[in-house]
This record gives sequence, C-alpha cells and structure tokens, in this order.
Amino acid sequence: MNQQQPIGIFDSGMGGLTVAHAVSKMLPNEQLIYFGDSAHLPYGDKSAATIQAYSIKICDILLEKGCKVILIACNSASAAAYELIKAYVGSKALVMNVIDPVVNYVVKTHSNEKVGLIGTKQTVGSGVYDYQIKAQDQSIQVGALATPLLVPMIEEGFHKNEISEAIIKEYLSDNALSEIKALILGCTHYPLIKNKVSEFYKGKTDVIDSSEIVASALKELLNTHQLLAQKRSKENEFLVSDITPSFEAATSLFFGVKVPLQKHKLWE
Ligand code: DGL
Repeated sequence: MNQQQPIGIFDSGMGGLTVAHAVSKMLPNEQLIYFGDSAHLPYGDKSAATIQAYSIKICDILLEKGCKVILIACNSASAAAYELIKAYVGSKALVMNVIDPVVNYVVKTHSNEKVGLIGTKQTVGSGVYDYQIKAQDQSIQVGALATPLLVPMIEEGFHKNEISEAIIKEYLSDNALSEIKALILGCTHYPLIKNKVSEFYKGKTDVIDSSEIVASALKELLNTHQLLAQKRSKENEFLVSDITPSFEAATSLFFGVKVPLQKHKLWE
C-alpha cells in the first residue's frame, strides 16, 4: 500500500456521502472513490446475509480501483458485514467501519449515563452498539429504537417540513429514549435531520453525528500506517449501481455540492 492510493467509501446509496463529505473536508489531499449501491437500497431492512453479499462485491470493485482503505460508511453494513469484510480484504487494504469511532467517543464522554441510539432495523436489531459500548464501560445504559421511516423520508427530501417534524417527534418521544443524555444518530442519512433532532431536545442532549468523528478516526488510522496522501493527484470518483435523476439531484444535500455519478454494476 502507498500514500497515493485512493480511499474507498461505500454505502447502500447516498447516506455515506455525509461521511465522504466530512472526509474530503478533513483530508483534502486524498482521492476518494465512493460507491453507492443505489440498485439495492435500502440495506436497513435486509438480512445480514444479503448485505454481506452486496458488501463483498463492492469491496471487489474498490480493491480493483486500488484503494488503500475501505471505509464502510453505512451503519447497517458495518453491523452486518464488518468482520466478514475484514477477513475477506485481509492485507490488501485497511478496513474501517462507522460504529467503532462513535463507540469510542461515547465511552470517553458519557460514562454513567443513558445514551440513546436510532438507526435502521438491521443496525438496532444487531445490538452491536450496545455490545461494543458495554464491552468497554458497563456503566453506560443504551436505549435503542429502530426508526425505519427516516431513510425514505430523507431520500424523498422530507427532512425539514411538518411531516418530518411529526415523525421525528413521534420517534424521539418513545420510552426507549427517555432521559437520555446523548443520542447516537446511528445511520449515515441522519446528519440531514440533526438540526431537527437537536431542536427536539432544545440543546440539552448531545446529538452525535458520526461523520466528523469517523473522518478524524480515519485520519488517525492513515497517519498510524503512514498512509496519508501528501498531495492530491486525481479527482474523486462517485460510482453507483443505478442512476436516476432524483438520486443525482439529491447528492447535493448529502455532499454539499452535486456530484457527477458514474454507473457501475455490481454484477455483470
Ligand atoms: N445509510 C444506511 C445506514 O447508515 C441506511 C440506509 C439504508 O437502509 O440503506 O445504516
């Protein structure tokens, strides 16, 4: 592996662009190759086995492109496929997920407190946040709630209107999230509703958006392995397994600017 190889980032669709955006801001010398599996989203209500099969195919593409690290920018795929991907990729590239950096942050900042988690059915059902947090600090209580309406709502552009406010309020009022001191936004789509979530808590709860936490953990990982790029050599690439005009238009919500998408099938 060498410093000038690209960083591979993938998600079921566009949610991972929130992470890619934070990475591109923190590491402007790096070339990113993003893969959004838009033909197969959402991952959040699929079985672990199906998510694993898609994830391995995506890793093949990112490895072919010569990525030095693969960042799984999807909580559902991180929950279902991280261990498998790590074993599959072996020494060909570093592998990172979006869950571990957030767990480390929670353990550092919320000892002896109750922390909430919202995410897809896959992420919440896997119990991975609870397991990883408790493995480091038994004093932290985790209240988790699957919030499956949020991804389609955000993808439809409903992230700051009355409908989205009502759905967010209904979910956040659930008993599972009562008296929490922090809320993990356990899905890479959710940074788009961070403001609405913070408004609900009137600033009294630490709303944890993983994108910056993950970007700085990635920087640290590359630094440790002396793999930080010294200069920018090539343009970022954004690959998707299916393109629709609405999907292309929505990329600007997630990445800050509209990005040029290239179609790349998962299976030939
Ligand atoms: N972005 C994915 C995640 O972080 C969720 C979207 C989906 O269900 O495909 O879990």
